[in-house]
Amino acid sequence: MDGHAMAVGAERRWAVVTGAIILFLTGMLAYMSLHWATMPPARMETIDPATLHLSGEFVEANLGTAREADGAVTVRLLASQYAFTPQCVLVPRDTPVRIRATSSDVVHGFSVAGTNVNMMLAPGYVSQFATRFQRGGEFLMPCHEFCGIGHAAMWAKVRVVEPAAFAAALQGGRASCVGP
Ligand code: CUA
Repeated sequence: MDGHAMAVGAERRWAVVTGAIILFLTGMLAYMSLHWATMPPARMETIDPATLHLSGEFVEANLGTAREADGAVTVRLLASQYAFTPQCVLVPRDTPVRIRATSSDVVHGFSVAGTNVNMMLAPGYVSQFATRFQRGGEFLMPCHEFCGIGHAAMWAKVRVVEPAAFAAALQGGRASCVGP
């Protein structure tokens, strides 16, 4: 075999390798596209921020912690420049708690010190987080998304009490620890 034939052979082998790589990548792209297209969409719940206070889940009377008909515990929170409503969230200890929250104006966020609770609240969307508070006591709940001039002063607190104390605090199915 002369040098020319060897060079042609090597070139052909490389062409095959390159072609195989391109085919593999194209195939992977097609597979991933189809795969994601057949997956259910990410959970996304929208809400009209302009009518929050008028009707629906986030009217003032419905905010705070609720014991649902099926026994589940749901916290409903509203964030606005520059406060959370309610200012003090009462939850039972060692109980599954679902937090549902939204914003009436700009993007806010909060975390609860010493827990895994960390949420982003965007106007127009309902954010949800499921957790269980293991330790009793009071925890700070600061806004952690810069939301304007009053951002640093925007915070609430979470009070975790024993389930019996929580049950006693329920009035009309709702509870919070705002007030004296
Ligand atoms: Cu609300 Cu920062």
